[in-house]
Amino acid sequence: MQEFDPQVLNEKPIAPPPEFQRRARIRSLDEYGKLYERAKNDPEGFWGEQAKMLDWFEPPKKILEWDVPHAKWFIGGKLNVSYNCLDRHLATNGKKVALHWEGEDGKRVRLTYAEMHERVCRFANALLGLGVKTGDCVAVYMPMIPELPIALLACARIGAIHSVIFGGFSAIALIDRIGDAKSKILITADGGYRRGHVVPLKETADKAVESCPTIEKMIVVKRTGEEVAWTQGRDLWWHELEQKASPHCPAPSFDSEQPLYILYTSGTTGKPKGVLHTTAGYLLGAMYTTQLVFDLRDDDVYWCTADVGWVTGHSYLVYGPLANCTTCVMYEGAPDFPKKDRFWEIIERYKVSIFYSSATAVRAFMAWGNDWVTKHDLSSVRLLGTVGEPINPAAWKWYFDVVGQKRCPIVDTWWQTETGAIMISPLPGATPTKPGSATLPLPGVITRVVTMQGESVAPGETGYLIIEKPWPSMLRTIFGDDERFKRDYWSRIPGVYFTGDAAQCDADGYIWVLGRVDDVIKVAGHRLSSMEIESALVSHPSVAEAAVVARPDEIKGEAIVCFVTLRSGHSHSAALQTALIEHVAVTIGSIARPSEVRFADLLPKTRSGKIMRRLLRELAEKGGVSGDVTTLEDMGVIQKLASAKALDEE
Ligand code: PRX
Repeated sequence: MQEFDPQVLNEKPIAPPPEFQRRARIRSLDEYGKLYERAKNDPEGFWGEQAKMLDWFEPPKKILEWDVPHAKWFIGGKLNVSYNCLDRHLATNGKKVALHWEGEDGKRVRLTYAEMHERVCRFANALLGLGVKTGDCVAVYMPMIPELPIALLACARIGAIHSVIFGGFSAIALIDRIGDAKSKILITADGGYRRGHVVPLKETADKAVESCPTIEKMIVVKRTGEEVAWTQGRDLWWHELEQKASPHCPAPSFDSEQPLYILYTSGTTGKPKGVLHTTAGYLLGAMYTTQLVFDLRDDDVYWCTADVGWVTGHSYLVYGPLANCTTCVMYEGAPDFPKKDRFWEIIERYKVSIFYSSATAVRAFMAWGNDWVTKHDLSSVRLLGTVGEPINPAAWKWYFDVVGQKRCPIVDTWWQTETGAIMISPLPGATPTKPGSATLPLPGVITRVVTMQGESVAPGETGYLIIEKPWPSMLRTIFGDDERFKRDYWSRIPGVYFTGDAAQCDADGYIWVLGRVDDVIKVAGHRLSSMEIESALVSHPSVAEAAVVARPDEIKGEAIVCFVTLRSGHSHSAALQTALIEHVAVTIGSIARPSEVRFADLLPKTRSGKIMRRLLRELAEKGGVSGDVTTLEDMGVIQKLASAKALDEE
């Protein structure tokens, strides 16, 4: 969690740039306020009205059934997500570009809405041909290639539930996620490109599937052309399936609450949780927020740089923009390949007007220097966005001055895998911004910053961020574990949604999200859990016990620090440190690679045996410990741990 700098509360808000404001959908704080009040006073009326932006085969009979904590939205309504993202645009916008795709190796693909529709229909038929039925789960482990959104929309078209697993995860992580959802099909590729290297996805998928008895077929996109192992009878080439399939595939109508996807995310235990999103509420949340927060226009060229392996890619690269008939840019690889101006080159080439990226990316761009940015013509850009972690005011200002050339508002969007869509964000033509604050909740979203007893805290005091009322794109449950859903989100402060974030509200009602209060770590915006990394460490034969904490990192926001005690017969060495770092990367995936492993003889524990992570956090960050250590079992431990780093460095 960030330490809050009260200085920022005194910052003067930055008004929306006048040129932007003049043409925006919502042009003043007053207008925002009216919309907000209307939604607050009559949430069902408000959401019922918004729901008209979807195409319904049968309109809903009732807007909400709320039996805390279980919500059903748009009851009795029937629709098809893929139809809403594609078919309904064809008559007027069939020739409009849906996707400008660029591979890291320079390969380019352009798909119009009509072309995308045809490819989705063919692939949906291919899935049907393999016996995939409504409610079956399809695992997706792919690079950022056009077949990825096509796969998602094809699943949605036939009512199959997709479960995307980020391409940076390991075979073990795949096994857990495929096993939990009982996926029948795995879609992957021979490989993908990252910084000029091939990421061997099929090889990892092959290893995983050895331990995944539910997988019947593996569908493989030929992306790199590298030689891959092939299991006859199980493995199928995507292009062969697509060629053989019919381009006609009707879009059946599904119930509003038909499950759309599962997306695994990290929580406080070692076991990732399968966040379940359903059809109508999720799609509405994604579509409504894309329109409002990005102030969308028909001629926008919109680029969300997130990987579809994370929720941002689901909501703001696939469902939100396509439901709005937007032209999207999608890029496969790293921002610094072949050079550090790859993103700015892409913006210039496609005349991107809306650019949505992570705070970590912004901090990296800032560290690389202005020249990479300023040598490109970025005059097409009109709006900038950020997501995933708190953005520090210095990075915010750099983004505003150098990338946006003081002409583009910045939307700092706060939300979560669980919320499905943006919850707190400026409206770019209406909300004066304060660098580092996500500002105000969107109309239809009721948030508060409270104590553990649920009482609002005074302006400037730290509390827990909660959401008071249900919203359409909220998670419905944790797949297969409704008890965990109730416990993690709805029991801490009974009856309201607990976000797991600490925040402050200032005198203007602006929300400053400070970071997680649980053991979730955000490394480069990626969500990991301390416990997941600890389980990976203790699975190594040399490790007796492990405790994992985060320390602030200038670029990545947070970095992973591991404290480890060894089993007898093993001794501290630089080689073992490296081996343990590698072991975590292999067990979970390279995104979980620790920055530091420190050896210790003992870990600080309370008398009841709980590891005191707070002390370790302080040690990792400052090298020493202050504050209350009265419940600590052995005071000497801290001393030893504090000197452990020095010993390691000798
Ligand atoms: O701590 C908050 C942080 O990211 C968490 C959610 O992570 P995840 O489910 O991976 O979703 C990330 C993309 C939506 C939150 O609990 N977070 C997200 N956006 C912001 C943020 N923290 C501060 N400011 C943000 N704009």
